[in-house]
Amino acid sequence: MRLSDLPLPDSAARRLSRLPFVSTPSPADTNRRVLITGGASGLGLALATAFLERGDRVMIADLAPSDDRPDTVPADARYLRLDVRSEDEWQAARDEIDEIWGGLDVLVNNAGIAQGGRIEMLTEDDWRLITDINLLGVARGCRTFVPMLKKQGRGRVVNTASLAGLVHPPTMSSYTAVKAAVVAISESLRWELEPFGVDVSVICPSFFRTNLASSLNSSDPAAAGFASKLITRAKLDADQIAAEVMLALDAGEFLILPDPDARKNYRGKRLLPAVYAKTMLDMGRKFAAATGKS
Ligand SMILES: NC(=O)c1ccc[n+]([C@@H]2O[C@H](COP(=O)([O-])OP(=O)(O)OC[C@H]3O[C@@H](n4cnc5c(N)ncnc54)[C@H](O)[C@@H]3O)[C@@H](O)[C@H]2O)c1
Repeated sequence: MRLSDLPLPDSAARRLSRLPFVSTPSPADTNRRVLITGGASGLGLALATAFLERGDRVMIADLAPSDDRPDTVPADARYLRLDVRSEDEWQAARDEIDEIWGGLDVLVNNAGIAQGGRIEMLTEDDWRLITDINLLGVARGCRTFVPMLKKQGRGRVVNTASLAGLVHPPTMSSYTAVKAAVVAISESLRWELEPFGVDVSVICPSFFRTNLASSLNSSDPAAAGFASKLITRAKLDADQIAAEVMLALDAGEFLILPDPDARKNYRGKRLLPAVYAKTMLDMGRKFAAATGKS
């Protein structure tokens, strides 16, 4: 049995997943000042569009130079180059936001790359790259903007992790490791920042269709191909995920599981560990058989 085939009613699973995780609901918020990293594509872009539709002000940050904004960036969004690996560019982003807005209401640490690979084939460079972007990129964003949010006495940090941060399939250990760390950072900050009026949320979607597969590494083509298929053949797209994320943010949720597969897999791992282990074992064996156990 696959975890996604579990006979768990999704609506109940959804309520159960949410119950212990709700902090401060904020449905009436509009005109917020929002910074989204990796906002020129995929989920970041879909979230930017959704915030703009709500009447919020959005600064999209991504890799293209500031004076050469990508065509994808909506006309009513601001745009800034921010490579999340660069301390200097984070400082420059904070200075610019301070100057134009005098503060920030929502920081969305969303930029990320994909990676797949059997452990012996992932190189040291692969590990360094994904750690620098997917994990340290989030840490740098929090370190840069949390002092501003604490001083204001309000704001929200939203970190994009992944279902892979909660459920850890074979042949993607570097990706699951950094995403689990993003879930961990988010929970620590949730308790740390609550006394200062700053909320934290972490987004943990299952696979959805974006450009993410184009960032896959080539150290282990078989594993990268497996991950690529999961992304490009996913049922949902980024707009559908973003719509669910916005509702969850309105409800003040901490742990955001925006799609049925994410909710079922997370719940299945906790409530039916034997089924979970069997599913993961089958996945590992199937991959080993397909690659000739090489
Ligand atoms: N697509 C999925 O199946 C999926 C599932 C779970 C989680 N996620 C996560 O969602 C987030 C967004 O990914 P997506 O699927 O929208 O992919 P995407 O490739 O469409 O968008 C990622 C964006 O991040 C940017 N980026 C990459 N490296 C950067 C850097 N160093 N500094 C700044 N920006 C950088 C890219 O230019 C791109 O615009 C990622 O953190 C990803 O891990 C994606």
